[in-house]
Amino acid sequence: MANINENFLKLEESYLFSTIAKKVAEFQKKHPDKKIIKLGIGDVTKPIVPAVIEALHKAVDEIGTIEGFKGYGPEQGYEFLRKAIVENEYKTLGIELDEIFVSDGAKCDCGNIVDIFGNNNKVAITNPVYPVYVDTNIMSGKKENIVYLPVLEKNNFIPELPKERVDIIYLCFPNNPTGMAISKEELKKFVDYAKDNKSIILYDAAYEAFITEGNIAHSIYEIEGARDVAIEFKSYSKTAGFTGLRCGYVVIPKSVKGYSQGGKKFEMNKLWNRRTTTKFNGTAYIIQKAAEAVYSEKGKEQVKANIKDYLENAKIIKDGLEEAGFIVYGGINSPYIWLKAPNNMSSWEFFDELLEKANIVGTPGIGFGSCGEGFLRLTAFGTKENSIEAIKRIKELY
Ligand code: MLT
Repeated sequence: MANINENFLKLEESYLFSTIAKKVAEFQKKHPDKKIIKLGIGDVTKPIVPAVIEALHKAVDEIGTIEGFKGYGPEQGYEFLRKAIVENEYKTLGIELDEIFVSDGAKCDCGNIVDIFGNNNKVAITNPVYPVYVDTNIMSGKKENIVYLPVLEKNNFIPELPKERVDIIYLCFPNNPTGMAISKEELKKFVDYAKDNKSIILYDAAYEAFITEGNIAHSIYEIEGARDVAIEFKSYSKTAGFTGLRCGYVVIPKSVKGYSQGGKKFEMNKLWNRRTTTKFNGTAYIIQKAAEAVYSEKGKEQVKANIKDYLENAKIIKDGLEEAGFIVYGGINSPYIWLKAPNNMSSWEFFDELLEKANIVGTPGIGFGSCGEGFLRLTAFGTKENSIEAIKRIKELY
């Protein structure tokens, strides 16, 4: 008799975005004539930019030649991409090539990172939060070790430092789901906390390309001391439209140390390298070539233009909702808009009403955690036309 991992029984029955997709599919089946606007899951809609497409074509042709064929690549990523990452993202921050691990996206990295941590760690996770952090900790038997850090309207959606001692802290800024950013001073408090407590920060910076304001770190390593206590996750998904192509990376400075039960220090970089070489055979060569092209002159320009358009959508949605009398957060340094449900509706009531009466899909705040109750997240990753149309429908309804 094969036993199951019973930790899976402690999870919600289905992953948040799968539950929503099912609900929307059922609604569409009942009402095939309705034109649904999907502003739920943060999936991009703009095609891959020409500079990246060109690099992809070239790489495809290359692997069809005897000289250009590639078999297994380095598990950590090809040097050309790791070099481009260091050069373009971390040049002034002291991050080295062997501190970068290329992957097939931040979701996998954020989930897989639990492998290199012990089961007795106290883990601080914000509430509401991107569900992957919580679910992967539960799957690996750490449900009881999770300490939630409430992220509340009254604190401008910035978590307070943990009240009890924790070993690991997940942070995501600009934040998914609230769309709010953290100032360098506030972030420094977490870095100092981690230093004082020998904790490690797992910093998800997947949305940093959307930062428009000053005094907000694009990388946690801009904060003094972070290189000793932080692991950073980044992704090309939202930055360069790679949600389908799949590529991201994790940064683990060699100075980030964990401890054995006996109190001996270990480099987390070495542990992750060991895990990576065992469980991963690297991201496809052609995809890494595509990611490299994001850093070409043309690539940078084209990707920036797309982000600008998404941020314009965010402004259309945010301004429109405010004109309609909603209380709205996010949408300035982020593609996410976090709005308060009207008339004291719950997140799911508001979700249902928007779906049924305006045929708009959002993501109920409570799906990201109990403190998200009463909120709904909309994304700016739709088209401009759909963003305008969504606001028109909402204004008609409220
Ligand atoms: C989201 O909608 O929160 C994200 O698209 C999910 C993800 O990046 O996996």
